Amino acid sequence: ELSFFFPVEQTLATIKPDALEGHRDEIMEEIKGAGFVISQIKETCLDREMAEEFYKEHKGKPFFEQLVDYMCQGPSLMMILSKENAVNEWRALMGPTDPEVAQSTAPGSLRSKFAKSILQNGLHGASNEEHAVEKIKFVFGDIDLERVDVIDTGINQ
Ligand code: PPS
Repeated sequence: ELSFFFPVEQTLATIKPDALEGHRDEIMEEIKGAGFVISQIKETCLDREMAEEFYKEHKGKPFFEQLVDYMCQGPSLMMILSKENAVNEWRALMGPTDPEVAQSTAPGSLRSKFAKSILQNGLHGASNEEHAVEKIKFVFGDIDLERVDVIDTGINQ
């Protein structure tokens, strides 16, 4: 049995429809290059009900309907990423929500390169550990997170 000598954390990462269509391979290379293990992966087309549930914490905000429309425009790639401090590391690799801010403050980040606007920002990551667990369960079902790292997706090499 495999074991790790450092505390591995999991986060839920999403490549949104437009970024997946335009930049799938570049984004996947950056994720692996940054040292994340892709523990689970699933390409899925969210329907409105699922998108509303996925973003339920933003319900009522002025951009909510547009955000749901955007997420339903095609398939997204949902991933469980594993790494020490994965939640914050993934948010750092994505960069700020607004691409203009990303370009000025985090020029190497994924959103600085691939986001088109604050709405069409290409990538999502859980905002904290609690959300990470909740979103992972929403997308991947009731899996045993203690064992998720030893699952071989075949795409990490
Ligand atoms: S928050 O409120 O602190 O959670 O905001 P943030 O982390 O920036 O995430 C907000 C999500 O809504 C999407 N979105 C917008 N945010 C702010 N302003 C506008 N106009 C807007 N339009 C859409 C934004 O892309 C964030 O989505 P995710 O997928 O979580 O990155």
